[in-house]
Amino acid sequence: MTSDYWDGIYRTKDRTDVSWYESEPRHSQSLIRQYAVSSMSVVDVGGGASDLAVALLADGFDDVTVVDISPSAIEYFSGLPIKTVVADVREWLPGRHFDLWHDRAVGHFMTSPDDQSRYVGTLRRVLSPVGVAIIEGFAADGPESCSGLPVHRGFPTWVSEAIGDDFRMAAAGTYEHLTPWSSSQNFEWVVLVRQGADDTIRP
Ligand SMILES: C[S@@+](CC[C@H](N)C(=O)[O-])C[C@H]1O[C@@H](n2cnc3c(N)ncnc32)[C@H](O)[C@@H]1O
Repeated sequence: MTSDYWDGIYRTKDRTDVSWYESEPRHSQSLIRQYAVSSMSVVDVGGGASDLAVALLADGFDDVTVVDISPSAIEYFSGLPIKTVVADVREWLPGRHFDLWHDRAVGHFMTSPDDQSRYVGTLRRVLSPVGVAIIEGFAADGPESCSGLPVHRGFPTWVSEAIGDDFRMAAAGTYEHLTPWSSSQNFEWVVLVRQGADDTIRP
């Protein structure tokens, strides 16, 4: 799961010609409308060249950051009032907190205990003491791999169990994603609300 691997994908393929592409990020946007308000700062981790950040601007959010390991992916946002960061979510150390963490299909690449613990460490460090995390990934009956890499099916549920008692699961569910070539992929999602315990490690 290297930067070169992902950057190669975004350099050689149109952003609309990848399995995870959505012409409208309806599902994520709807969850964010339900569980966040536009005064909240948002980070879309592994956001790639998804239109979610653009949709959030249209919804009135004005502090939106996309973090991705691929520099080519986030070039998509150049010229827009969206902050971009090239970083690996497993070791990202921003000098600030975010009120809303959104992840669609990057956490599910965390297949080793080490990667999983680093992902959860970043989430805990980055999220505000009263923040909300929305995590989406392949469901237990979803595909075994994504973009040629193995995935941890059921990752969102796993995070909800592993993250700690200072988080409450506010909601969870599943949906079907259709790839641009109409293959069906079952996703699951969770909404985790932090209970205000300020044990974050200040960056
Ligand atoms: C399956 S795509 C999902 C993109 C976007 N979230 C969406 O739903 O359209 C996974 C994304 O995660 C990025 N990525 C993969 N590993 C990463 C890592 N360790 N840290 C940050 N980004 C990563 C990839 O470059 C890619 O943009």
